[in-house]
Amino acid sequence: MPALTLPDLQSKLREWKGCELYKTATQAVLGEGNPHAEIMFIGEAPGQKEDEQGRPFVGPAGQFLDELLGTIGLKRADVYISNVVKYRPPQNRDPTPEEKEQCMPWLKMEISLIKPKVIVPLGRHALGHFFTKLSITEAHGKPQKLSNDVTVFPIYHPAAALHNGGLRQALYDDFQALGKFLAERKSAS
Ligand code: URA
Repeated sequence: MPALTLPDLQSKLREWKGCELYKTATQAVLGEGNPHAEIMFIGEAPGQKEDEQGRPFVGPAGQFLDELLGTIGLKRADVYISNVVKYRPPQNRDPTPEEKEQCMPWLKMEISLIKPKVIVPLGRHALGHFFTKLSITEAHGKPQKLSNDVTVFPIYHPAAALHNGGLRQALYDDFQALGKFLAERKSAS
């Protein structure tokens, strides 16, 4: 059987009803971006705008993410952006452990297609997908080795800074640290 592509995943996800959130959401939201990206960002779950448009990070948190990417010379088209959960939870409540578990195969398939070298979990839900015992408060801004050639670089969720202005500077600082890490990786290769 030929390998699945991102457009295959997209059309399969549209038919998928393996998570009860499909009942209250408008549509499922897969990741998007450069299929050959070295760096992949992973958020929590679609919000209202993402649910309406069927695209990740297109609301206020997405605008802030675009701005943060710009501070280190990256554009959305350079990276791949996705979420742990593929349907919007009602009123943007936290996804439950079951919902995260049910959606996990999609994220795993995206990671295995993109094969990123650096994975940036945005916030605790995405960090928990990789490291169950790390807290985002302790781990943000610090690279964590996932395997020989993959590093996880946790960062606070951009939406957290929209609610808590104190986190804004931490996000700018973490993006600077990420930019430095990416530059060092490049010069070492
Ligand atoms: N927050 C997320 O975690 N993901 C989105 O796509 C938008 C907001």
